[in-house]
Amino acid sequence: MAKTQISLKINGKEVDALVEPRALLIHFLREDQRLTGPHIGCETSHCGACTVDLDGKSVKSCTVFAVQADGADIVTIEGIAAPDGTLHALQEGFREMHGLQCGFCTPGMITRAYRLLQENPQPTESEIRAGISGNLCRCTGYQNIVKAIQYAAAKIAGVPFQEAAE
Ligand code: FES
Ligand code: FES
Repeated sequence: MAKTQISLKINGKEVDALVEPRALLIHFLREDQRLTGPHIGCETSHCGACTVDLDGKSVKSCTVFAVQADGADIVTIEGIAAPDGTLHALQEGFREMHGLQCGFCTPGMITRAYRLLQENPQPTESEIRAGISGNLCRCTGYQNIVKAIQYAAAKIAGVPFQEAAE
């Protein structure tokens, strides 16, 4: 099948590539770019495991063709930590608050939360739950994911994190 040239930015790096018009963005990222952080859970836009940040929006990369990302600025979980390897506040929060078990949903969950905290730096618990409602987790029951995002919001704001009494 004829391939189409695309140019985009991924995790701050300029990328030029040839892609089949039918190729999904998640397959381009995982197979061509070897960015295997974004996971494939359902390929039907339900689970959110494939979430990436595309031009400042959270998108499920199984619902986007790679050719549609031509010219885009993409951030995947691989681009969330600082260049020197320092964890992002969200990554630290998920570690500290035990926001993961098997970890399958975690790259998509953190990438979604990364955008959520830019849209709303001090979300309430219900705003966090609504904000991550497109990302499914089969393990945690979500409580520790919410705490991890609250931890990150506090850290980014420079205020102490106080765990709410259950
Ligand atoms: S793999 Fe994309 S939403 Fe599930
Ligand atoms: S930690 Fe297992 S699916 Fe979320």
